[in-house]
Amino acid sequence: MSNKVAVFRRESFNAAHRLYNPAWDEETNDRVFGKCAFPHYHGHNYDLVVKVVGVPDPGTGYVMDMKILSELIQQEIIERFDHRNLNLDTVEFRELNPTAENIALVIYRILRPLIDEKMELQVRLYETARNFVEYPA
Ligand code: NI
Repeated sequence: MSNKVAVFRRESFNAAHRLYNPAWDEETNDRVFGKCAFPHYHGHNYDLVVKVVGVPDPGTGYVMDMKILSELIQQEIIERFDHRNLNLDTVEFRELNPTAENIALVIYRILRPLIDEKMELQVRLYETARNFVEYPA
């Protein structure tokens, strides 16, 4: 049996978005995305759970120092997305539909190179209390 342990850090941010595919007409966007396609955007209180899996370091007993993980998420994710309009204010979603799926993918790609490659990383993003996504699946 492996000695791997999963550690989790939860953070949150507020952001506005609009789900919209510019390749489709308005009617198709309305049919597929419903209220999420309203032109004047809407907001979510996103809850982000970052999971890191690894073997606890023999010296510290930590898989990863949670203070470092927390600072990393703050600096790289929260600073970037909190109180932003994802479609208008971020380069990441200028041409990428900011669904929860795509936001989780983007967050993973930002964090992955910053966390020791020996660790497994997974991102869970709650768009609402009932709707959440995970990457990698
Ligand atoms: Ni939405």
